[in-house]
Amino acid sequence: MTILHIDSSITGEQSASRAISAGIVEQLRAGNPAAHVVHRDLVADPLPHLTLDAFADSSVVEEFLGADTVVIGAPMYNFTLPTQLKAWLDRIIVAGKTFRYTEAGPDGLAGGKRVIVALARGGFYDSSSPASALEHLESYLRGVFGFIGIEPEFVAADGLNLGPEQRENSLRQALAETVRLAA
Ligand SMILES: Cc1cc2nc3c(=O)[nH]c(=O)nc-3n(C[C@H](O)[C@H](O)[C@H](O)COP(=O)(O)O)c2cc1C
Repeated sequence: MTILHIDSSITGEQSASRAISAGIVEQLRAGNPAAHVVHRDLVADPLPHLTLDAFADSSVVEEFLGADTVVIGAPMYNFTLPTQLKAWLDRIIVAGKTFRYTEAGPDGLAGGKRVIVALARGGFYDSSSPASALEHLESYLRGVFGFIGIEPEFVAADGLNLGPEQRENSLRQALAETVRLAA
């Protein structure tokens, strides 16, 4: 089994999404010690913005297609995903590889893979929150992975910037959730 571990937070050791994505990978490995893990740090090794020339290089989409499970650390920056993570998505949403258009509409080709996303958000965006209309991270990732045939799973730490106690509680709950996910 191959696990592709993607990180995109710019905050290094302080990062909540990195702590949670690492927790998920640790739990998955505990259940499958022979698993091969490939770590792609999109901040240490950023992918350039998409260009037409970039389509000639299929290495990023092949790496994605070769993974059985993909774990993604996804912090919310300015109500959506970091540009580093968008640059990666731009390489894996590829016609003929991960989706195709048919007469009946778009068809996802990347099904059968598990995608687990570690979300870290400074505020709260549930449907009862006044900020819910600004949630373009989880909703976008659900939509884009759905388009290629995958229903992603999410582990979320929310309210991280609302004080140290809230941060600690949210992180603890998210890390506990990783145990359930890997079970
Ligand atoms: C540049 C930047 C922009 C941010 N924008 C938002 C935002 O729009 N909404 C929000 O709820 N939190 C926002 N935050 C807070 C982060 O979502 C929060 O700190 C989270 O922990 C980030 O994940 P990380 O710790 O893995 O970097 C922002 C943080 C940074 C550094």
